[in-house]
This record gives sequence, structure tokens and C-alpha cells, in this order.
Amino acid sequence: MEDIDDHCHQRAHVLVGAVKLGILAWEKAEPEALGIADVARERGHSAMVFELDDLRCDPGPAGAVATIQGTPLSEFDLILCRCDLSTPPWTEKIQQLLLLNGEPGVTVLDPLEVHIRAASKRAMIHQLTLHGIPVPPTKECHSAADVRAALDAWGQVVVKPALGYRGLDVERLLEGPTTSALELTETLLERHGTLLCQPYLAHKGDFRVLIIGSKVSSCTRFDTAGDDWKPFSGDLADDPVSSALIEPSDELASLALQAVKATDLTMAGVDIIMSESGLTVIEVNPVPGWAAWTPEMARVPNVHLVEFAETQVNARGSVSAQSARGWR
Ligand SMILES: Nc1ncnc2c1ncn2[C@@H]1O[C@H](COP(=O)(O)OP(=O)(O)O)[C@@H](O)[C@H]1O
Ligand SMILES: [Mg+2]
Repeated sequence: MEDIDDHCHQRAHVLVGAVKLGILAWEKAEPEALGIADVARERGHSAMVFELDDLRCDPGPAGAVATIQGTPLSEFDLILCRCDLSTPPWTEKIQQLLLLNGEPGVTVLDPLEVHIRAASKRAMIHQLTLHGIPVPPTKECHSAADVRAALDAWGQVVVKPALGYRGLDVERLLEGPTTSALELTETLLERHGTLLCQPYLAHKGDFRVLIIGSKVSSCTRFDTAGDDWKPFSGDLADDPVSSALIEPSDELASLALQAVKATDLTMAGVDIIMSESGLTVIEVNPVPGWAAWTPEMARVPNVHLVEFAETQVNARGSVSAQSARGWR
């Protein structure tokens, strides 16, 4: 097996000029985006935190100019994309992201196609399956009859919104097609339109492996068990279950890296559980969060992200220098 140390973050010594960094945040006050921006400024870069709605198509002398809070998009070197694609309306969001991804010379991490494929739970699970990553069997459900068929096949199931985050409306149905299970299903179908249904994989402990720049940045173990079977209850007012940073086993780190590679993301949070059938990837999340961490802990991914941005801009600089030499 490959040496996992090769994939873990070492202090990078990257020589790079000031980077003009844009951080597309889930929301303006998002602590992760603000923390990344602070680290970037400490290191001599400029950083702007913005939301999708700050991105505009403005008139220009030759037609249309893409701007972020009034600054032309073309003035940025690199955009870190942490926008919320877990909620509608995708029709508008995709158009905003197309604008953001359309400027030659501005690197967007991760690019639109990669980001939306990971944000769509069904497409993400499909992609992982194609790459041989262990994931739960997953059935798309549009009616209570669909969920009932899954219960008949699997006994105990989990239903979840086709698009979602933070455990919201992720429910386990352990008692078969009872009246209350079918009522809950109807409520969720009304709310979300499409649900995904999977066998319920009993487990104790959830792992979240944070990958930045295709390397392991950290690994958290959430103490899930019994009624606290999810790291986040689904009620936004609740704290997550207790957790601790751990050193991931080689197997865990390697699975997380393979999962992220399968999605083509360069940064992601990989949710992994250990069930009877071994390590199983539940989700590769393109917008990982660490807002609940202490400032010291949160600084680690913030620094890793800025180092990664520096590496990307640096690599692009040497690529364009090389191609410029080729022209002479
Ligand atoms: N098939 C499953 N079997 C057992 N637990 C699951 C299953 N799917 C999800 N979970 C639990 O629910 C949590 C949230 O599910 P997830 O699909 O990651 O949704 P979200 O995007 O809301 O985080 C997971 O971290 C895991 O603890
Ligand atoms: Mg999750």
C-alpha cells in the first residue's frame, strides 16, 4: 500500500506572489470563509468573501462583464467555491456558477461540473460506484410505494432528501412499513419531491475525513450510537454529537482519498461509517465545514486551503511561463 504520509499535509514552502483570492461562501458570515480570508491576508494576499448573489452580469463596452461586488471577475486569480448547492433554486444558481466559471485565466476550485456532480447525492453515489468505492445501495423514490418496496427488500432503511445537508430530514425507518413510517415518508416526499432510500447500516461512530489539495488535512470521529445515530440530529439548533480529532488508519485515509479522487474534487469532507459490511462511504461533501472547531483547530484547514491556493496559482504561473517561452 502507498505510504499515507505522502498524502498528508507537510508544511509547504511555496514561493508565490500575492494571490487575488475570491471565496464564494455558503453565506457572507460563514466562519470557514472568513477564517480562510484572514489567513490569506496574513500571508500577503488579497481576499474577498462573497455569495452567489454578489456575482453579476454587468454591461461592458463590448457586451457583458462578470463582476463580484463590482470588481471584474477577471481581476481574480483563484476562486474557492463553497456555495450552497444543497438547496434550490438550482436553475438560478447554475447560471450564476456558469458565469463564475466562464472567465479564462481565473481558476475555480472546484469547477462547476465537478462541484454539482458531488452536490447531487445520486450522481455522487453513482460516480463512487463506478470507481469501485463501497457505498450503500441507493434507490430513488418518488412515492410512498417506492419507499415501501425498499422496506420490503431491505427491512430497515434510511430515507434522505435527494439534495441535503447537516442530517436535515435524514430519517431511519426501523420498524418496517408502519403507519407512522409511511406518514413520515409522505411528509418528506411533499417537502423534497425526491428522496433517496438506502439500507440502514447499523454503526457506532462516524468518520469525517477532510481532504484539502488531494491530501488528508484531518480526521474527526463522531461518537454516534443508539438514538444519536447521526453526527447532526437534523435540528439546526442542536449541537453535533461529541467528537474528537483522530489519526486515521491507513485504510480509512486511503478510502477517503480514493473517494475524493473518484469525484474529481480537490477539497471535500468524506463521511465514512464502519458497519458489518466494513468501511462504507456515505457521502463526499464538496463544502466541508469546521465552524464548530476551536480557532486553533480551525486554523489548520484554513492554512491548508491557502497553501493549496498558492500552489495552484504558482503551478499555473509556471505553466504559462513555460508556454510563453515556447512561443518565443
Ligand atoms: N444508509 C445509512 N445507514 C446508516 N446511517 C446512515 C445512512 N445514510 C446516512 N446515515 C447517517 O446519517 C448521516 C447523514 O447522512 P448524509 O447522507 O451524510 O446526509 P447529509 O448530507 O444531511 O449529511 C450520516 O453521516 C450517517 O451517520
Ligand atoms: Mg453528511
